[in-house]
Amino acid sequence: MKPGFSPRGGGGGRGGFGGWGRGGDRGGRGGFRGGRGGGFKSPGGDGGFRGRGGGRGTPRGRGGRGGGRGGFRGGKKVTVEPHRHEGVFICRGKEDALVTKNMVIGESVYGEKRISVEEGESKTEYRAWNPFRSKLAAAILGGVDQIHIKPGAKVMYLGAASGTTVSHVSDIVGPEGLVYAVEFSHRSGRDLLNVAKKRTNIIPIIEDARHPHKYRMLVGMVDVIFADVAQPDQTRIVAINAHNFLKNGGHFVISIKANCIDSTAAPEAVFASEVKKMSAENMKPQEQLTLEPYERDHAVVVGVYRPPPKQKK
Ligand SMILES: C[S@@+](CC[C@H](N)C(=O)[O-])C[C@H]1O[C@@H](n2cnc3c(N)ncnc32)[C@H](O)[C@@H]1O
Repeated sequence: MKPGFSPRGGGGGRGGFGGWGRGGDRGGRGGFRGGRGGGFKSPGGDGGFRGRGGGRGTPRGRGGRGGGRGGFRGGKKVTVEPHRHEGVFICRGKEDALVTKNMVIGESVYGEKRISVEEGESKTEYRAWNPFRSKLAAAILGGVDQIHIKPGAKVMYLGAASGTTVSHVSDIVGPEGLVYAVEFSHRSGRDLLNVAKKRTNIIPIIEDARHPHKYRMLVGMVDVIFADVAQPDQTRIVAINAHNFLKNGGHFVISIKANCIDSTAAPEAVFASEVKKMSAENMKPQEQLTLEPYERDHAVVVGVYRPPPKQKK
């Protein structure tokens, strides 16, 4: 193990939230309880989000996956406070919820709840961010140290799907930032294009992320690559995009689904072998955590690309 790099379990080890019941239709995952650390209410009930009901719907309207309008429950007055990660917020009410500041006031993207908060003279709207539908949200609630996605950042997002998580990244980076959202499925791409119509900081790219030369003309250098393509060659996909578009000293955040890479090996062995592949591509892993209780056998690895040489003392 490299010094300074140690895999961690998720599970809200650092201050979990109470309000994200799993319940819903995910009975199939019964018995799968949070990793270490407490802080989470047991699954079930319908507190907060209601798991991922409803199959793979479109992200719009009410019906999409998740019936997930949860997040702000009860009549109690809610307050919103900044999260440790800049651009991310916590809504404190009967049940706490992770939220982002809505770039497009009055609009939900995938049926998520919105809440309007008066701040002095002005009103700000926040959107609930469901960790059962977003690995980035799951990593944040799991206590990841760094996401490197912050206001003003330029982010390349590989595996954008219908734009669920992309929309929250768009909220975080705000009007000064940019999200290059790459997705090769035309079906998901249609939804993504609709999300991008209203969010001017999203540049949708309907292409295979294995062929960055096809979108080279659309993309500038980026600060961060986030990847969630769930492919066996995911690390290679991230590496070729990093070689083309990631600044030296820029960062990557990769969600790894173990059984997409090798369904016969132990997840920890898969994560370790991916970390090794990253190091061989000049991508230096700095942090790894698993995504329980939100996802089983998933890990997120965060690291730095071509780190500047250490100054000699
Ligand atoms: C797990 S889903 C991503 C979910 C999304 N990150 C979210 O949170 O809403 C993986 C997505 O990656 C896309 N994908 C897989 N391989 C790809 C490739 N080579 N290029 C572009 N997109 C790809 C799939 O079509 C799928 O939509």
